[in-house]
This record gives sequence, C-alpha cells and structure tokens, in this order.
Amino acid sequence: MNEKIVIAIDGYAACGKSTLAKDLAKSLKYAYVDSGAMYRAVTLYFLDNNVDIKDETAVELALNNIKIHFENIEGKNHTFLNDTDVEEEIRTMRISDFVSPVSTVSAVRRAMVKQQQAMGETKGVVMDGRDIGTVVFKNAELKLFLTASPKVRTERRLAEWQNKGVTDLSFDDVQKNLLDRDHIDSTREDSPLRQAEDAIVIDNSELSPKQQMERALDLATKQIEKKTLIDVNPS
Ligand code: CDP
Repeated sequence: MNEKIVIAIDGYAACGKSTLAKDLAKSLKYAYVDSGAMYRAVTLYFLDNNVDIKDETAVELALNNIKIHFENIEGKNHTFLNDTDVEEEIRTMRISDFVSPVSTVSAVRRAMVKQQQAMGETKGVVMDGRDIGTVVFKNAELKLFLTASPKVRTERRLAEWQNKGVTDLSFDDVQKNLLDRDHIDSTREDSPLRQAEDAIVIDNSELSPKQQMERALDLATKQIEKKTLIDVNPS
C-alpha cells in the first residue's frame, strides 16, 4: 500500500495551478483544496457585509460568522460560503479586484491557514495557493512553484472568461488585475508569495496541461515511492 503525501503548488495569478492541482488529485485519488477560493469567499462576505479591512474588531467578528466548505458536484469542485454555493460569484472581477487586499490581513490568513492545515492532516492532499509550501505545509513532500509569462497567463484567463460568456473584459483589464494581484501578493508583510527553497519550478508558458501534468506526476510518483520505502524500511 502506497503512503500518501502532501503536494503544495504555489505561483502567480492564473499560471495554471488549479488545472495542475485538479489533474494530480484526480490521478492520485487525493483531495484537492483550492485555497484561493477560500480567500475569494471571505472577500465576497466582506464586500456584501461592508466589512472594513482596517477595522480589526469588524474583521474578527466577520471571520467568526464565516463558514467555508467544498462539495464535489458532478465532478466539479464547488465552494460554499455559509452553506450557499458561491462558486460562480467568487470568480467575478468584483471579487478578483478586492481579494488581494483582503488577503494581506493577518487575521484572515490565520483563520484560513488553520482550516487548510486541518484539511491536510490525513495527507493525500493537493493544495494550491500562494503560501502553501512556505507556510501552510512547510513539510510537504512535494512543492511545486509554477510560472508562466504574463502574456500567456492573461491569454489563458481571458479565454476562461470568454468561455463563460463574459465578453466585456479586455486583454488590458485582465492583465492589470493579474499584475496588481501579483504585486500585492508578493510584497505583503504576512506570508508573501515566494518560492520555497525546496520547491521545484515549472515554467509552463510553453507546456500543455498534459505536458505539465506528466512532469508533475513523475515528481509526485517518485516522492510517493520514496516515502513508501522509508516507511517499510525505517533506518
Ligand atoms: O486562480 P488565481 O490565480 O486567479 O487566484 P486564486 O488562487 O483564486 O487566489 C486569489 C487570491 O487569493 C490571490 O491573488 C491572493 O491574494 C489570495 N491567496 C492568498 O493570499 N493565499 C493563498 N494561499 C491563496 C490565495
């Protein structure tokens, strides 16, 4: 019986993290956790309830009223905020424009990280985000850091919008959002986005989802074999 590992995937906005994380989780029969969806759900709650991120008491109060969970509906991961399916809403530009400032707030991060660590306790988890290899799972057996050129990332995100029928966003609108978020995410004080020292970098600018998956699955398989061998033959 193979041992289970934790796989942490970090990287810039719209660089294919969730595609890879979902593919890996499916192939390994692991749970997939989209940590970005959790920050997006918090942002939705803050916007709908006029929570001022500079008001510490209001933030703490709001966090106590937020319950996030995931459900798999017809093979697709859905995010629930206080038992309402918010999967579509949290992907809109209204949320994308505000999620990075919300994610700088330490109280928000503490609350999310606690839940994320609990989800990884039983291993067999693929989690993607910005601080998974550096903060949430410092001891993850496999850490990947994905990158792609801003142009490729913008084209991919724009195509996602167009597939959803949203046609009023320009290349420049989308690129600005991605680059603004990258800047806030990598310069914030608490848990900035950065490559963990032991992360393996995959630049997927020129890779298809299948090619990036093959590379990552090969790395994951080696880590699983290593862990299984160590557990069978402890020194
Ligand atoms: O899918 P996309 O790359 O657009 O972003 P996401 O993974 O949905 O994350 C949305 C935002 O949440 C990021 O830009 C970060 O501000 C924040 N985030 C974070 O701070 N820490 C994480 N572990 C995941 C997301």
